Amino acid sequence: MLGSLVLIWIFILFLFLFIRIQRPKNFPPGPRPVPIFGNLFELNITNPLKDFERLAQRYGNVYSFYFGARPTVVLTGLKAVKEALVTNGADFSGRPQNLLVSDATEGKGIVLVDYGPTWKEHRRFALMTLRNFGMGKQSMEDRILGETEHLVACLEKSAGGVINPQTLFHDAASNIIYLVLFGTRYDYEDDNHKIYVQCFTENMKIINGPWGMIYDTLPMLRSLPLPFRKVFKNFHTVEKMVLNMIIKHKTTRVPGEPRNFVDCYLDELDKRDDGSSFNERQLVRYIVDLHIAGLDTTANTLLTAFLYLITRPDIQERCQQEIDEVLEGKAHACFEERLNMPYTQAVIHECQRIANTIPTAFHCTSRDTELMGYSIPKGTIIIANLTSVLNEEGQWKFPHEFNPANFLNEQGQFEKPEAFLPFSTGPRMCLGEGLARMELFLILVTLLRRFQFFWPEDAGEPDFTPVYGVTLTPKPYRMGVRLRQPAREM
Ligand code: HEM
Ligand SMILES: *[C@@H]1O[C@H](CO)[C@@H](O)[C@H](O)[C@H]1NC(C)=O
Ligand SMILES: *[C@@H]1O[C@H](CO)[C@@H](O)[C@H](O)[C@H]1NC(C)=O
Repeated sequence: MLGSLVLIWIFILFLFLFIRIQRPKNFPPGPRPVPIFGNLFELNITNPLKDFERLAQRYGNVYSFYFGARPTVVLTGLKAVKEALVTNGADFSGRPQNLLVSDATEGKGIVLVDYGPTWKEHRRFALMTLRNFGMGKQSMEDRILGETEHLVACLEKSAGGVINPQTLFHDAASNIIYLVLFGTRYDYEDDNHKIYVQCFTENMKIINGPWGMIYDTLPMLRSLPLPFRKVFKNFHTVEKMVLNMIIKHKTTRVPGEPRNFVDCYLDELDKRDDGSSFNERQLVRYIVDLHIAGLDTTANTLLTAFLYLITRPDIQERCQQEIDEVLEGKAHACFEERLNMPYTQAVIHECQRIANTIPTAFHCTSRDTELMGYSIPKGTIIIANLTSVLNEEGQWKFPHEFNPANFLNEQGQFEKPEAFLPFSTGPRMCLGEGLARMELFLILVTLLRRFQFFWPEDAGEPDFTPVYGVTLTPKPYRMGVRLRQPAREM
């Protein structure tokens, strides 16, 4: 009895020693991992931010920890992030595989696809399609302005009252993506849409919760019928729905005359031979990915922007003055006009900086490489801390406060500091940046021109702390809306 206990202890001790030997040579410093669990016990699963901050302070701008058995390196600050994602972009642009999210999506789509030909071809295709207006006669700008008119109509109905902006901006961002993908707006009362949203919300909860953590760190439990199985089921449900939409869409398609993203993809599919990475299942996942990537990000940035604009009426008014002057006599805003609106541009960028919508970018090394004197083996998970860049001391005039002066030079001209990385940087940088910037500008300018927004008197003190998650969201708030006087009477 005693003998077997001793044996177990020796075995455990051996495991600990074994892991120590396993730590790669010249690997960035970090806390000592324990077998199987790595540094899991040192992190608060519901909100590990404080723990990460402590580790960065102790071990520096390039430090490591173990996510279960997997080595992970965290990059803090502009210098480390740029050196990895830009200077060594080809080595640092993979995505971690063999995790719950990547397994459930079967390496298809784009967001979670590892560095390689499938990712490259699909990325190039999307950039071209989104940039070239290769989608029929209507320009991207017209699509966004059209949807903004729906938003205006909605707000006009509520003018004089108080609204919950959450669903409003969500619906707008979602509709714009649908317009780009399928050329139609979405009916929110549609039962399919409700199932779709339900599947996603549930999946995000599981993936970010303890069951996701267990799947990712303890591979031996993966085949058991535990709650993470639900994630696979939900993804299948969503895929079936999207496939049906594509089948329906095909009935009105004319080959060679693309009206939207899906048409463009189907045309491309016709052109390529069987060996290519383009296929219909890939298109299904691609659509889902673009929808997820472009929805919460844009909606949450708008929500943050309005939270700050309604609590800083002085800044809102200054934007409105500038917008009135520049757009005098014009029917609507256009994206080109941003060049004449340095203050409004600065405010929008400052809102993005503060919103910090995606706090960390998850990458993976695609081969053995080096960074700032350390050796980092292939397959290491890389976490680029974008938050740490967006409020890094020394990079910003006012790193820790909301202040448009962060983007204005002495002459009041718009200037974008190098540390403005809300879309990340390097080969994996946000693919929808152009679309997102156009949306933010056109929606904000159009709404500020027509309405005045304010913090309701009975709403108490605003709370600016965001809700932690893969994307950061402001806490729900209410917003007062008034029609503005026409510009010339002001
Ligand atoms: C304000 C809005 C947005 C923000 C802040 C944002 C930010 C980001 C960030 C930080 C990444 C990760 C980059 C990395 O891994 O280094 C990303 C990736 C991505 N974003 Fe966005 N994004 C926004 C809007 C959009 C929109 C509207 C689309 C849709 C077209 C989109 C599509 C994507 C895609 C497809 C990726 C994955 C790219 C890849 O893995 O190669 N994003 N975005
Ligand atoms: C983990 O973080 C949550 C949220 O910040 C906090 O309420 C909880 O007390 C923390 N748990 C531990 C063990 O520190
Ligand atoms: C990123 O940096 C911020 C601020 O420097 C810190 O609060 C946060 O914990 C860091 N996150 C990670 C994942 O290292």
